Amino acid sequence: MQKKDGLKIKRYPASNNRSLQAWSAADEYILRHIKELDLSEKHILIYGDSFGYLATQIKAKSICIAVDGAAQKGAIIKNLEDNKVKSPVTFITLTEETPEKCAIAFIKIPKSLEQFELFLHHFMHNASQDSEIVCGFMTRHFSKQLVSICEDYFEEVSQSLAWKKARLLICKKGKKLEKKTLINTISFNNEPISQHYGVFSSNSIDAATQLLMAQIKTVEDETKVMDLGCGNGIIGLHLMKLNDTIDLHLVDDSFMAVESAKLNIQNATFHHAYNLDSFSDNSFDLIVTNPPFHVGHEIDISVPIRLFKEAHDKLKVGGLFYVVANNHLNYKTHLSKLFKEIEVAEDNEKFTTYKCCKT
Ligand SMILES: C[S@@+](CC[C@H](N)C(=O)[O-])C[C@H]1O[C@@H](n2cnc3c(N)ncnc32)[C@H](O)[C@@H]1O
Repeated sequence: MQKKDGLKIKRYPASNNRSLQAWSAADEYILRHIKELDLSEKHILIYGDSFGYLATQIKAKSICIAVDGAAQKGAIIKNLEDNKVKSPVTFITLTEETPEKCAIAFIKIPKSLEQFELFLHHFMHNASQDSEIVCGFMTRHFSKQLVSICEDYFEEVSQSLAWKKARLLICKKGKKLEKKTLINTISFNNEPISQHYGVFSSNSIDAATQLLMAQIKTVEDETKVMDLGCGNGIIGLHLMKLNDTIDLHLVDDSFMAVESAKLNIQNATFHHAYNLDSFSDNSFDLIVTNPPFHVGHEIDISVPIRLFKEAHDKLKVGGLFYVVANNHLNYKTHLSKLFKEIEVAEDNEKFTTYKCCKT
């Protein structure tokens, strides 16, 4: 359990890696800056607050929290409850409007610069006049692009001094918003694949995903199939092309990923979720995944290990689980605790694809 200023802010779902914290010095720097501001009459927006460190501590006239992750929303709600924070907060997705125009946004800068731009773009649609943003980041994650993205949206962009190896970017005087659709479209096998900014692997189909798809050449008729951690839905699309009679379910923790998959696939069921609790045990014939192992800038393999267990539970006996992974992650040790039959379907110098059968 983590303790900070009398509050207990925890990572949810819990990680096996005890060195991972629920906040960083960048979050602390944002709060330190807020002490100099009077927010009692201001409507504010928060972005990139992974576990609720900011949401539990900022006080304002109204607080709106823009969330993308299903796990992120669950963690913020849990930490608000655990710490008995009474101030009402509203959750919105990045495609929804705030109930009130907001004067100020606090942003913990995410790993994806595209997602950062999505945050700025969303804020500018929901900002009152003379609005400003305060963005926190760890100095080691600085890139010049961060500043140039801010300059696309604001006249005045200034950078703070470093404090505990963190910095702030403070942006004022919003520019007139240009019409811009924050969607990338690439061509893959001569077909357009679209995705919202910030969704995994925006300019190409990931090499590991391509290795995985090449291993799956047939899918049986009318089988129940899951693309777990679907991103833009490329794996689900591949399975659907092999056999369009399948009952395809696409699952992702990221709301914008699920929205992206909807751009590419029809006739499937989409689930915005970070676990498989809503599915019946022993119900799937095939589950395929290029699983996540990053939470923001951090590596956390507790997430894929939990998903492997859940996928095993949801498979029928005889059902197949295909996983691709970077070689250094050594997933075979974890998979062999669940599956008696595991085959290395394909490997190269970087990635391995495992084919596991539930017995
Ligand atoms: C490595 S990417 C793969 C995306 C896509 N399948 C592809 O191959 O391009 C992993 C995906 O898992 C999603 N994800 C992260 N945590 C998750 C969770 N707990 N449950 C489901 N999806 C998750 C991420 O949002 C991301 O889209």
